[in-house]
Amino acid sequence: MKILCLFACLFALCYQTYGLKKQAVARINARGITGTITFTEVDENTTRIVANLQGLSGNHGWHIHELPIDQTVSPDLQCLSSWAGPHYDPLNARANLNYATDCSTSNPSSCEAGDLAGRLGPLPANGQLDAMDTTGNIDLDGFYSIVGRSVVIHQVGTNVNFECGSIISQQELDGQFQSFEKFSDFTYRLPC
Ligand SMILES: *[C@@H]1O[C@H](CO)[C@@H](O)[C@H](O)[C@H]1NC(C)=O
Repeated sequence: MKILCLFACLFALCYQTYGLKKQAVARINARGITGTITFTEVDENTTRIVANLQGLSGNHGWHIHELPIDQTVSPDLQCLSSWAGPHYDPLNARANLNYATDCSTSNPSSCEAGDLAGRLGPLPANGQLDAMDTTGNIDLDGFYSIVGRSVVIHQVGTNVNFECGSIISQQELDGQFQSFEKFSDFTYRLPC
């Protein structure tokens, strides 16, 4: 019995997982624009998106792209879709031929999951935005998670990708779980 318990307890310890707060942050710091865009899961269908940016000039388009930012690529290139990948669109919303008219802030579920400008409107010149997405399309865990992807901000009035930052879980930024093994986007476990 003792031996069984020892194994059972060790097993339990090894595989005890630790859930993460469902919050993730993209930090922006280049070309005079600094700050954060924070995603917080409120409930299974609701994600709060808070932008707190300094240095914007005018309204900017912004989107989630498929890939994280590759820091080994030069800052002039790393925000381009060649490196950040295309808009994040796991439900293939872009296949709708009427996308341009159907996707709007009053009809966000017709927008690509990553079309933050379409869903929430542009990033305003003062860099402050606090909005809820209630479509259930902006997930912070599971199969469609946005964690590990990136936010890209356009130059004013153009489609040129200008600023970008990877979407990183808050706990990773806090340096928690350093001796733990990453198990999924939102769980860590003690390595065996
Ligand atoms: C989330 O959306 C689904 C599908 O519309 C619905 O069944 C569910 O009750 C919603 N959950 C919450 C917490 O509102």
